[in-house]
Amino acid sequence: MDANDSIAYLNGEFLPLSKARISPLDRGFIYGDGVYEVIPVYGRRVFRWEDHLRRLDHSLDGIRLPNPYTHAQWTQIIRELVQRGAHEDQSLYLQVTRGVAKRDHAFPKGVPATVFLMTNALSVPTQEAVDAGVAAISLPDNRWLRCNLKTTSLLPNVLLRQLAIDAGAVEAVLLRDGLLTEGAASNIFLVKDGVLLVPPKSHLTLPGITYDVVLELAQKDGMRYEIREVSEAELRSAQELWLSSSTREVLAITRLDDKAVGNGRPGPLFRRMYTLFQELKAQVRRAPEPQMHA
Ligand SMILES: Cc1ncc(COP(=O)(O)O)c(C=O)c1O
Repeated sequence: MDANDSIAYLNGEFLPLSKARISPLDRGFIYGDGVYEVIPVYGRRVFRWEDHLRRLDHSLDGIRLPNPYTHAQWTQIIRELVQRGAHEDQSLYLQVTRGVAKRDHAFPKGVPATVFLMTNALSVPTQEAVDAGVAAISLPDNRWLRCNLKTTSLLPNVLLRQLAIDAGAVEAVLLRDGLLTEGAASNIFLVKDGVLLVPPKSHLTLPGITYDVVLELAQKDGMRYEIREVSEAELRSAQELWLSSSTREVLAITRLDDKAVGNGRPGPLFRRMYTLFQELKAQVRRAPEPQMHA
């Protein structure tokens, strides 16, 4: 295998990514009929594996696709993939689709799900992005009403993110009916009067694993936070704005729609949270055994 080639897993077999083949009739390709997870790995320790597995179950239930594997089987596959991966820090991608069948909207009968995984080097934000913060734009949230499911049908998110890129920004911050929902591929936090605010989980947002981690760290650190709806006016007058996701960790948004957020620099609560997050990663890396119980 080419040393630069990623390792993949497809329907029971580990193989180089370049050798993986899927039928064009796969419903993931034809309909975006599938769900996925992105999971960070620090020092070959899979971060929050149980939480990702729980969210996978929730997404599969939401699209009425039985989980093709037991939790023990998933854990075994993930463990092997991480061991075979070339890097200490990895980004795991996992996808389950409704399988290969003659094109027809109705669910096919007796067709096995397609299971695909790959591992790549984890790429986290640059030090410059952490120190200076990043730009975002706000956009109307025009996605469907089941954003709590992590489905591979991501065209709305793709189009929203691209509008942000076209505007020289890195993320789209979404508003629905005058309220903040989340980012095109992240959850959004803000600071108002020294209090960290984040919208509650609902069908309008993805329940981010990093969202939970940020709130846990805030709680342990005695940082004041509230989980509640956030209005557009509050978004626009925030002292600090952050995004969170498994690969971007926590990142300060220092410009929104070309205006400075707060004083235009990452704020004190962000810097504290970033430090806590890096400490947590260091702890995970030091853990004696891969922390993987399913
Ligand atoms: C729409 C959306 N919201 C939130 C998140 C953050 O979720 P997590 O922290 O589990 O990566 C993502 C992750 O890609 C996402 O796509």
